[in-house]
Order: sequence, then C-alpha cells, then structure tokens
Amino acid sequence: MKTVKSLKNKHFINLEDFTPDELKGLIDLALELKKKIKNNKPADILKGKNLVMYFSKPSLRTRLSFEIGMAKLGGNSYVIKQDEIILGKRESIEDTSRVISKYADAITIRTFAHSDVETFAKYSSIPVINALTDLSHPCQIMADLLTIYETFKTYKNLKLNYVGDGNNVTNSLLTGCASFGIDITVSCPAGFEPDTNELNKAKEIAEKTGANIEIVNDPLQGVKGADIIYTDVWTSMGQEAEYEKRKEIFKSYQINENLMNNANKNSIILHCLPAHKGEEIDFETFEKYSAPIFNQAENRMWAQMAILASVIK
Ligand code: CP
Ligand code: NVA
Repeated sequence: MKTVKSLKNKHFINLEDFTPDELKGLIDLALELKKKIKNNKPADILKGKNLVMYFSKPSLRTRLSFEIGMAKLGGNSYVIKQDEIILGKRESIEDTSRVISKYADAITIRTFAHSDVETFAKYSSIPVINALTDLSHPCQIMADLLTIYETFKTYKNLKLNYVGDGNNVTNSLLTGCASFGIDITVSCPAGFEPDTNELNKAKEIAEKTGANIEIVNDPLQGVKGADIIYTDVWTSMGQEAEYEKRKEIFKSYQINENLMNNANKNSIILHCLPAHKGEEIDFETFEKYSAPIFNQAENRMWAQMAILASVIK
C-alpha cells in the first residue's frame, strides 16, 4: 500500500503545513484503505505500533475512530484522560512529551491551547496529531474532504457554505477548502469571524489553487450557489458559560428548510457532530439530510487511518 512518504515522522497539527498534493495523497490512501478493509483484505501495516491518545475535552468520534482505526491497521492504542495527566500541570509539557516519545509510535492530543500541542511537538520524537484545539480541527476536515469527494466524485466547481460560529472547525475548513480548490463562504455574525491568521493563511493557499474565500454576515447571501452547507455547534467545548448569549446571537444562522431552499439543488449538509438540534440545525432538516452526515462521521476513521499509516515510522 502506498502511504504518503513525505509525511513519515511528521507532526499532523496544521493543514497548511502540507501541500495540496500531500493532502490529496492522504485522501487517496483513505479511499484505498476503506475499499480494501471493506473487502476483508488484510491491511495490518501498523502491526506492533502503539498510539497514545490524550484528551482534555470530551470526545466520541475522535476517540473511537482513532482507536478502532488503529486496531484495523493491526496496532494498539492507549487513552489518557485529563484527570490522569493535566497537560503542563503535574509535570512540564516538555517532560511528558519526552516520556511518551520513549513508549509510543505516535500521539494524538485534544486540548484547549493550540500552543500546548505545538510545545508538545517541539519536544517529541514521535508524530503528534492534533485531535482538536481551540484553534483548529484538521482531522475532521480530512474526513470532510473525503466525504465531499465520495459524494461529488470531484473537487472541481464546488462551493461550500459554512453557517454559524467561526470556530476551530471553520478555521481548518478554510485551509482544507483552499488547498483543494473548493470555494468557501463563511456566514457568521459580526464578531464571530474565523481567526484572522488562519484566514490569511487560507487566502495565501487559495491564491495558488484558485479557490474563492468570502466572509459574509447575511446567512441567506452565503448559501446561494452552495453545494455543501456545513455547520457546527454555536457553543464549542470550553465556551459553556456563553451558551445563553450565543443562542441569542446565532438564532438567525440556523440550517433549516428556508435556508436550504436557497442552496443548489442536490446540495448536501455536513456537520462535524455532535449536533445541537433545534439550534444550529432544526430536527427535520437534520433527519432529511442525515445520510452524508453519518458517512462523514464514518470517514473520520478512514481519513485518520491514512494519516496514521503515513506519519508512523
Ligand atoms: N467531530 C468530533 O470531533 O467529534 P468528537 O468531539 O465526538 O470527537
Ligand atoms: N467546535 C466544536 C467542535 C466539536 C467537534 C468544539 O470545539 O466543541
């Protein structure tokens, strides 16, 4: 099986660290692994390899898709939760990183500060994979790009409209879409735009790939001509104290029938999940468009297996 060789022993923290060809190589590998394993062909390319996973926020998809994905490739995984090592509290991040490097072949980290993952990586001799920070969620976006390809069989002439909070998922979507030449419009309330740095990095990539990037405040403006409508929760993990305030601010940014009537025919909805139905998407619309959303959840596993297979030595 052809893994993406240039990724060997590299950290997978920021999508912009990789060329569009490298990211496309990962999607090709994910498709190949998915086909092979669904046809009961052996794919134990990580036999004897060990993945450590650290979480300081809750997770269903990320944890299970990495654990089961690792097992399907013949490897093992070990989960450490925040109450066991609070990153940077019981001992320094530098020391935790150097210790885990002695035992494992790769580590995934889900935490708050993106800089903690960067610090961890600086001292790690094994690949560090970003499993979500306050700034970004690159593994999610690889699954999204895989789902888009499976649905449309191309990345050409597609427009994605993200509706809602300009959060970690949005930041990574900007880079992911820019890298793959997909036009992206983010519709969000003023003051809830994506991170400026991340937006600028995506714009630089888009200049080369020809993708168009727009940030608008009117939800009905962004959805026009969109093939993919994407949303995420209005209150991300760690922002729970702002829940009531955010519910009020975002209420006109709900994906519902009215919004979907303004999108392209045959458009799909993507949602990274968990969904807060009745907030960012209504119950009926979620159910009507749920098939690609659950394929997207499944694709977390195949996309991450391609990452693991490529970065682990
Ligand atoms: N989409 C996603 O990352 O889900 P979890 O938070 O359940 O891992
Ligand atoms: N923006 C969400 C994504 C969850 C997968 C959060 O950070 O909570």
